[in-house]
Amino acid sequence: MRKTFFDEEIKSWSRFYRGNFVNSLSGFKSVSLIGTVDSDRRSNLAVFSNLVHLGADPALIGFINRPREAAPHTLANIEATSLYTINHITDSMVVQAHQTSAKYEEGVSEFNATGLNEEWIEGVPVPFVKESHVKYLLQLEDVVPIKQNGTFLVIGSLRLAVVPHEIISGDGFLHLEQAGSITSLGIDGYYNTSALGRFSYAKTDRPLTRL
Ligand SMILES: Cc1cc2nc3c(=O)[nH]c(=O)nc-3n(C[C@H](O)[C@H](O)[C@H](O)COP(=O)(O)O)c2cc1C
Repeated sequence: MRKTFFDEEIKSWSRFYRGNFVNSLSGFKSVSLIGTVDSDRRSNLAVFSNLVHLGADPALIGFINRPREAAPHTLANIEATSLYTINHITDSMVVQAHQTSAKYEEGVSEFNATGLNEEWIEGVPVPFVKESHVKYLLQLEDVVPIKQNGTFLVIGSLRLAVVPHEIISGDGFLHLEQAGSITSLGIDGYYNTSALGRFSYAKTDRPLTRL
C-alpha cells in the first residue's frame, strides 16, 4: 500500500528520519571522493554524492557543498588552490570511502586515516585516489551560494580525465558499470549497478531503437 506524505508531516519528523527520507527521494547518486590539498600542500579526501553534470561544451561539473561549518576542508582547499580531483568508488573501497566522511581535524589526511592511496600525476598538484578506476581533474570556476540553506554549488571545468580504455564506446559513452563504479542512495547507502540498455535519440516521428 502506498502512503502520501504532506509537507507538514515531513517537517514534524526528527532531523535524522527526515534526512534519510528526503535524501533518498532524489534518487541514486554519482558518489565520488574529492581529493584536494591545503595551502601547506597537506592532502584531504572526502566522499561527496551531490555531483551534477552542468554541460559538455565547455565541460562543467558541479557539486553541492554543505554549509562551511558542516563540511569545511574540501571547499576551503579548493578556494585556496583552484584544483581538485574527483575519483569514482568501487565496491572494494566502499568502507574506506564512507569513513572519509568522519570529521577529521584540519590537516589530518583521510588518505592516511583510511588507507586509501594517493596517486600523483606529473604537473598536477592535487592527489588522485590510486584505487579508483575512473578519475578526473577539475579547475574551480565559481562557488555559487544557495541562499535557501547556506549550501554552495561548486562549479569546475574539466582539465584531465583518466578512464580505462576498454569501457569507452565508439561514440564516447562510458560503460561505468564495467569499471565497477558504484552509486549511492541517501546519506549512507551504496549500490552496485547493472546496465539496462541504451536507446536511440528520441524523436517524435519514429520509434526508439536499442543501441
Ligand atoms: C554518502 C555520502 C555522501 C556525501 N555527500 C556530500 C555532499 O554531496 N556534499 C557535502 O557537503 N557533504 C557530503 N557528505 C559529507 C562529507 O563527506 C563530510 O561532511 C566530510 O567530512 C567533508 O569533509 P571536508 O570537511 O574534508 O570537506 C557526504 C557523506 C556521505 C557518507
